[in-house]
Amino acid sequence: MTSETRYASAVRDEVRTLPKPYHEAIEHWQRHNFPDYPKLAEEWDRFFPKDEPFCLCAKIAEDIPSEIEVGERKGEEKALAPRELPEEAAQHLLTAIKAQASTEFGSIQQHQGTLARAQEPQDHAWALRVMAEELRHGYQMVHLLTSADWSPVTNTKASDMVEEILSMQTGSHLLAAFNLEYDSFLDNVVFAAFIDRVGKYQLTMQKISAYKPYASSMPPMLREEAFHLAAGVIPLRRWVEAAARGDGYITMSDIQRATHKWFGRGLEMFGDERGGQTNVKFGLKDMANREAQDMYIDECQRMYDDLNERYVRARFPKLSRDDAEKAFARIKSGETVDGVGSEDLLRLPDRRFFRRRGEFAYQMVGTHGGAFTDVEKYIAHVLANLPEAYRASIDVKHWADLQRKVTRGETPLKEAINSMPRLARVGGGCPCAKSVRWVQESG
Ligand SMILES: [Fe+2]
Ligand SMILES: [Fe+2]
Repeated sequence: MTSETRYASAVRDEVRTLPKPYHEAIEHWQRHNFPDYPKLAEEWDRFFPKDEPFCLCAKIAEDIPSEIEVGERKGEEKALAPRELPEEAAQHLLTAIKAQASTEFGSIQQHQGTLARAQEPQDHAWALRVMAEELRHGYQMVHLLTSADWSPVTNTKASDMVEEILSMQTGSHLLAAFNLEYDSFLDNVVFAAFIDRVGKYQLTMQKISAYKPYASSMPPMLREEAFHLAAGVIPLRRWVEAAARGDGYITMSDIQRATHKWFGRGLEMFGDERGGQTNVKFGLKDMANREAQDMYIDECQRMYDDLNERYVRARFPKLSRDDAEKAFARIKSGETVDGVGSEDLLRLPDRRFFRRRGEFAYQMVGTHGGAFTDVEKYIAHVLANLPEAYRASIDVKHWADLQRKVTRGETPLKEAINSMPRLARVGGGCPCAKSVRWVQESG
C-alpha cells in the first residue's frame, strides 16, 4: 500500500466502535477463538512498519453514491435503514450479512488451528494479520446488525443474532468452506488464495448495495482483502520456485491436492450457478451467480498460469526469460520440454469436480472433466486426488456416503445438497457460548 492510499483511506473512512457490551463480547470471543491475536502487535512493526496500526473497529467509507446503481429501482435513493427496502430485499440482505459474519469469524477459527506451524516468520505474520482483519470484518458485520432496526424482517433481537454468530464453531458455520479444518499451514495459504478471492468477489459485487450502510462498509474491507490474496499468492510463488529447484518442503502435488480440496467449496460460495438474479433485481449485487463465478475461475486460471510460469523459469534457470516463456507455452499446450510436461504443473480442476451444491452437485465428473458412471470408481478417483489428512476427515466420509446414496437414488438430490456434517451444539462446550449470552442492546 502506498503512502497516498493510506492517507486517502484515513481521510475517507469514518471509524466507529461498537457499544461496550458488543465490543466486549467480540473481545471475549477473540480470547477463546483467537488466542494468538496479541502477537500481532509484537510482529506489526517488524513486518508492516509503514502501515497504520491495526484497529478493531468498524470503518465507514465516505463518497458512496446515494442513488441505487443497479436493478429495478435504479436511480432511486439508497436505503439508510432496513425498513426503507422492499421487505424481500431486506430479508435477502439480512441473510447475506449473517452469512458474511459467519465466514469472517469462521475463517479465524480455521487459521488458528495451524497458524503456529508456519515455517517462515513472515508467513506467520501475514496469516496473523489476515486473521485480525477478518476479526475486524466480523466486527463490521456486527455493527451492521446492531446499529439498525431489523425488526421489519426478523423477530430475533440484535443481541441474539450476535450471540448466534459468536457461538458458531468449525462445523456449525453456514457455508461448507468454513466448516473444513486446516490440515497444515498449506491450507492457511491455499485458503487465502482461493477462498478469500471469493470473498473479494462477494464484496466487490456488493459495493453497489442499495443499502447504503452496507455499500459504505465495502471499500475498507476490500483494501484489506487485497492483502489476504497476497498472503496466499506470495508464499505459493516461493513454494513452486523451491519445488522447481528441488530444495523445498512442499511439492507441486501437495499444492494440487489442496486445490482439489478447496476449489469446489469456493465455487459453491457463489450460490447455485443458475441463481442470483433476485439480488441484481433488488440492487444488492451487480452480477448474478454464474457470471461472477466465471470471472472468478478466469482469475484463478491466471493465478495458476503465473505460478506455473514461475515454476518453469526456476526449473530452467539458464534460459532467458523469453525462452522460458516459450518453454512454458509449449508445456501448457501438451508438449514435454526437457522432461517437464503439463502433469508437472498446477491445474485447476474441472468446475464440476467434487461438487456438493449448485448446478453440478453430485454429478460424477473427474478432475480432468471426464464423466464417471460407477460410483465406487468415482469415489476412488476423488480420494486419490485429495490430501491424505483430509481424506481421513468426517467431511470426506459424509460426502462419499451421500454420493453413493444420491447415485443409487436412495437420497433425493435436494436433500443431499442441503446436508452438511454439523457439529451438534449443546450449549456448554465452549465457555464463549454462555458468556456471549449476556450481550444486551445498549439503551
Ligand atoms: Fe473478511
Ligand atoms: Fe479475507
